[in-house]
Amino acid sequence: MSTAPPARIPLLIDTDPGIDDAVALLLAVSSPDARLLGVSAVFGNVGLETTSANARRLLALAGRADVPVAAGAERPLVFPQAQRAGEWHHEDGLGGRADTLPAPGPLDPRGAVELLADLLRGAEEPVTLVPIGPLTNIALLLASHPELTPKIGRIVAMGGALSGGNTTATAEFNVNSDPEAAHRVLAEESVPVTLVPLELTRRCAVPGDWLAELAASGPRCALLASLTEYYRTRIRARTGVDAVPLHDAVAVLEAVLPGTLRTEAKPLAVACAPAGQRGTVRIEAAGRSRPVDVAVDVAVDTDIPRLHAEILRRLRTLDDSSPDPA
Ligand code: BDR
Ligand code: CA
Repeated sequence: MSTAPPARIPLLIDTDPGIDDAVALLLAVSSPDARLLGVSAVFGNVGLETTSANARRLLALAGRADVPVAAGAERPLVFPQAQRAGEWHHEDGLGGRADTLPAPGPLDPRGAVELLADLLRGAEEPVTLVPIGPLTNIALLLASHPELTPKIGRIVAMGGALSGGNTTATAEFNVNSDPEAAHRVLAEESVPVTLVPLELTRRCAVPGDWLAELAASGPRCALLASLTEYYRTRIRARTGVDAVPLHDAVAVLEAVLPGTLRTEAKPLAVACAPAGQRGTVRIEAAGRSRPVDVAVDVAVDTDIPRLHAEILRRLRTLDDSSPDPA
C-alpha cells in the first residue's frame, strides 16, 4: 500500500535582509517540509531597495530565483523609523559581502501587499506567514484584505522583547521600527500569532564551531557563513562572546517544524506613544478592553542543541545539488 508523502507547509516570508534574515531565507528553501510561495521585502535593517535586492540575491544563491519577490513599505506607518541596523549588518545588509552573491533576479511587478494577497487567495491550504522584519507590510495586508485572514493558518513573527531590548533599553528592533504596525498585528487581529522574542533568539545564538561546520559544508554554505563574520565581529566586540544570534532563523524553524519552540499564551500590546517606552511590547492588563480577545503564543523555550543541529542539517542540503553557487 502506498502512503501519501507528508504535506509541505506553504510559507510566505516578509523580510529585511539582514544577515540573520539571509540564514532564515535559506533555511526556508532548504526545508523539505515547507514550500516557499513568495517573499516580500520591507525596509528595516537597511533601506527597501537594498533589502529587496538582497532577498533576490539569496534566492538566486539557492537556485530558487523562481520564488517571486515583491517590494513593500519603504517606511513605517506613522513616524519615521527610529534607527537602522547598518552598524550590525553593514550598509549593504549582508556584512559587506552582498556583491559576492549572484546578481538579483527580477523584482515582481506587484507590490508586497498585492503579491501576498494574490498568493493567499490562490492557496488551497492555510498558509504560514513569517514576518522577520518590521511588521508594516503585514499590518497593511491585514488592514486592506480582511477577507484573506482565514487563509492564514498562523503568523510566526520574530520580534519584541519582554525583558530588555536591543534598540532601546526595552524595545526590540523589528517592533520598534514600526510600533503601530506591530500593535495591529499582535493586539488587534484574530489571526493566530506566535511571537519569537529577543530573549529566546539570543539564547539560541550559534557558537563559532557551528559556523565552522557550516563553512565546511560546501560553497553555498561557506558563502552564507562568510556573511555572518561582520555581525560576529561586532557581537564579540560588544559582548566578549563568540556566538551569532540567528534571530530570524529561529522563527523560520518554528514555522517549518511546528512545536520546535515551547510557547505561553499572553495578551500583548505595544507602547505607541511618541515618548516614553515607545516600541516596547508589554503584557496587557487583564480585563482591559480590546478590539478582539486575542492572546499571542510567545515562544519561551526550546531544546537549543536540537535547534542548532536541525538548522545546520537543513542548510547543508543547499550544497547537495550543484558545486557552483555563482
Ligand atoms: C531583529 O532585528 C533585525 O536586526 C534582525 O534581522 C532581526 O529580525 C532582531 O531584533
Ligand atoms: Ca530581520
